[in-house]
Amino acid sequence: MFWSLQKLDLATQPMSDTLLCLRDEQWKHVRSVLTLSFTVARMQEMCPLINQGCDILLSNLQLFADSGEACNIQRCYACYTMDIVTSLAFGTKVDSQSDPDHPLVQNSKKFLELFTPFKPLVLLTMAFPSIMIPIIRRLPNKNRSQINSFFHQFIKEMISLRDQQPANERRRDFLQLMLDARTSAANVSVEHFDIVNQADVAAHVREEPSKKTTKTLNEEEILGQTLIFLIAGYENTCSLLSFITYLLATHPQCQEKLLREVDEFAQNHDGANYNTVHDLPYMDMVISESLRMYPPAFRFAREAAADCTVMGCNISAGTVLEIPIICMQNDPQYWEEPETFRPERFTAEEKQKRHPFLYLPFGAGPRSCIGMRLAMLEAKIALYRILQKFCFETCPRTQIPLQVFTGPTLRPKDGVYVKVVAR
Ligand code: HEM
Repeated sequence: MFWSLQKLDLATQPMSDTLLCLRDEQWKHVRSVLTLSFTVARMQEMCPLINQGCDILLSNLQLFADSGEACNIQRCYACYTMDIVTSLAFGTKVDSQSDPDHPLVQNSKKFLELFTPFKPLVLLTMAFPSIMIPIIRRLPNKNRSQINSFFHQFIKEMISLRDQQPANERRRDFLQLMLDARTSAANVSVEHFDIVNQADVAAHVREEPSKKTTKTLNEEEILGQTLIFLIAGYENTCSLLSFITYLLATHPQCQEKLLREVDEFAQNHDGANYNTVHDLPYMDMVISESLRMYPPAFRFAREAAADCTVMGCNISAGTVLEIPIICMQNDPQYWEEPETFRPERFTAEEKQKRHPFLYLPFGAGPRSCIGMRLAMLEAKIALYRILQKFCFETCPRTQIPLQVFTGPTLRPKDGVYVKVVAR
């Protein structure tokens, strides 16, 4: 059973080329190439670029610590995750806080606005998809065409620039990994696609040097995959960090425990990277509990590929099943006092006691989130760097309880206002 949603039928290129929209053989091919870009070794390579993004984030937070003004931290995280997207996927270092008019930032924001729900046309399409989808496909959309052509041009120029550079001078980012895949014979089979439940795919890579790969990513497909970072990575990671900050500010004892862990880590390590962040177990528990209470991707879907019977229920081929992650993760039948923030639910011992499918913030199976490692790494490095210098406090503008907005994803409705205090 593969993930596919009715609303994705609307997608046009390059959106239709992203992994999110692909199906069957084409999906398998692109997922196989991309899986190799998200291995543990690749994550380690991304750490210097993530740390560069953190440098900018910290200097923004310093301004709030100095002034004592309430900080809408969701905005700071939005800049951080945007800078990571432009750096890792588009190969360009941008400071979106100081340079919000940068064409890459502007077009990325416009691109994301195309998916804003509750526009009248979108509502009509959701209500009458069979009538509206064919109409919308034919409607000229000047805005969309302009944004698409900006990204086409941008990626085309980046690819040609990279191809002219000597190999050892090329920046190590996701764009480069995808370009390298054009000449690689490495391959991963579908049973090793599940990043969420698997240690590392690197052990399962099949190198076939004698058989040069015939199917690699073309320019359109590369553009499609860079857009994934915007669609699937940007807002989800920003929301995750915003929810964690709210929870830490409103639970000072948990924050205190995390600060102690961070200080101890700093004494024993030379910085946070993919190989060292595992030594921050309490941080991992805090993040997991935040993802339980506030999963940014709060539901996902599967379409039945064939007629089947699940627990006595007959499901016909083509039926779309919604998996309500947020309900399962907050069901009092399985989680004691689910509304209480309790990171201790995620000790190794407690995790063992539960059915693994009661907690699915990154989905499950071969179609699970390919960016999980990256999202966790971005969150952990940012939290570690922030908590070394600052801590969070509530202030009169902090909304308690936090109101959330459930559009395509779950996010704080009116921002997350906190006081940033220098340590
Ligand atoms: C906190 C951050 C994130 C959360 C909570 C999240 C969650 C999810 C969930 C629940 C799914 C559906 C899984 C399923 O159907 O089983 C998904 C799919 C996906 N995510 Fe993420 N995600 C996050 C960050 C990212 C990042 C940073 C990237 C990439 C850079 C990414 C790329 C993708 C892609 C490409 C898919 C579709 C995979 C496929 O269809 O093969 N995600 N994500």
